Amino acid sequence: MIDPAERIIGLYDDKAEGWIADRGPALGGLGKSIDEVEAFERFAAALPRGGAVLDVGCGSGWPWGAALIERGFRVTGLDASPRLLAHAAQTLPEGEWVVGDMRAFDLARTFDGVLVWYSLFHLTPGDQRRALRHLLPHLPPNGVLMMTIATEAGVSIGHWRGESLYHASLGASAYAAILADGDFIRDDHGGRPDTGSEAWILRRRTDHPPSQPNVVPGLDQSAHQG
Ligand SMILES: C[S@@+](CC[C@H](N)C(=O)[O-])C[C@H]1O[C@@H](n2cnc3c(N)ncnc32)[C@H](O)[C@@H]1O
Repeated sequence: MIDPAERIIGLYDDKAEGWIADRGPALGGLGKSIDEVEAFERFAAALPRGGAVLDVGCGSGWPWGAALIERGFRVTGLDASPRLLAHAAQTLPEGEWVVGDMRAFDLARTFDGVLVWYSLFHLTPGDQRRALRHLLPHLPPNGVLMMTIATEAGVSIGHWRGESLYHASLGASAYAAILADGDFIRDDHGGRPDTGSEAWILRRRTDHPPSQPNVVPGLDQSAHQG
């Protein structure tokens, strides 16, 4: 039997058309535990006008990338699914779409904001820590991070389009500790605590130098689309 955590990337790529259909083009189309429209407004308000945003695990670019572009932000999306990114490049040519694995990437620049929306939770706990080590250096002092978190630590297996769907959480206190260690301060948090899902907005402190982006030997940056 295939390990559901190892299957995640292939699952989204194999069923890219299904994901695009299920996700829909508008914010608010995925579950009710977090109000995406409200989260979008909070994130946009925390960013400088026209700022650069990195969307980690961006899927097809819809709805987040599209909404951010529409609001005047410069969007770079990173995802492991070439098919989802092909859709993004075709339908949102204003964006920059990069095929990459969030567990090992280095875009060698920083962004005003980084968005991690319903993507980190598909990684094992160890891989989530690895991904955070790669993505946090993409934020400079005063940079803004918005991420969804499941507050309870643990693993849960859901189902989607006939296959198992892996999710895991380190738990709220572990995320808070990692982010505090990276000099991030909670700006605010939304979502409905009773549902166990929250959207955190954090800002990197300005009184410490940023850590250097990790150099990841062998990462093929030529897979850039769009
Ligand atoms: C639930 S979807 C969310 C997509 C998008 N953030 C949204 O809100 O519509 C999860 C996404 O994470 C991507 N993903 C999963 N594991 C990844 C990894 N290791 N590196 C990069 N992307 C990954 C999948 O390809 C998929 O597009």
